[in-house]
Amino acid sequence: MVSLGRCLARSLPRGQPGLRPPRPRCYGSAPPELREKTLVLAKPDAVQRRLVGNIIQRFERRGFRLVAMKLLQVDQGLVDRHYQELRHKPFYPALVTYMTSGPVVAMVWEGYNVVRSTRAMVGDTDSVGTIRGDLSVHISRNVVHASDSVETAQREIGFWFQRDELVDWESRDRDHTYGP
Ligand code: TYD
Repeated sequence: MVSLGRCLARSLPRGQPGLRPPRPRCYGSAPPELREKTLVLAKPDAVQRRLVGNIIQRFERRGFRLVAMKLLQVDQGLVDRHYQELRHKPFYPALVTYMTSGPVVAMVWEGYNVVRSTRAMVGDTDSVGTIRGDLSVHISRNVVHASDSVETAQREIGFWFQRDELVDWESRDRDHTYGP
């Protein structure tokens, strides 16, 4: 594993001031347990209600690392793939209409136990102190999606992002979040 110190040292400019060396090559140095990833969607109601910043802030404050994010207008094909288990539910047509009603912000967050922690943070519409509990009042407009298992997260991230859209960057505050 490349140490944080060496990583930082390589990123500091040497020689002539103002000349920066190539980007430090410290990617992939975090241990696997810190590299768990999950998909979080700020759904159309979150974008329309300007709640995206609030949602991002909660993940940043918790200490998770944002590794991908984009704003996109979703089509029915993507909704069908993403919610394939729900396609025969009575509420599914309304869910498609809602998910395609405006842009969505798709994000990938990374960190220790991120899938389970994120599900707890997202919570239910009636649990105060969670994202849904604080920001929504009805299941049909519940502002966020979060993957429900590590395997689901891997599959869902593949629906929403190309592999090269995930940015593998070294978080400088790792020791402060996880200890040395
Ligand atoms: P589901 O996967 O059961 O819940 P979660 O998002 O908590 O994993 O359902 C997916 C979405 O479908 C849910 O976020 C909102 C919508 N939905 C309804 O509109 N009505 C319903 O009765 C249910 C169960 C879900």
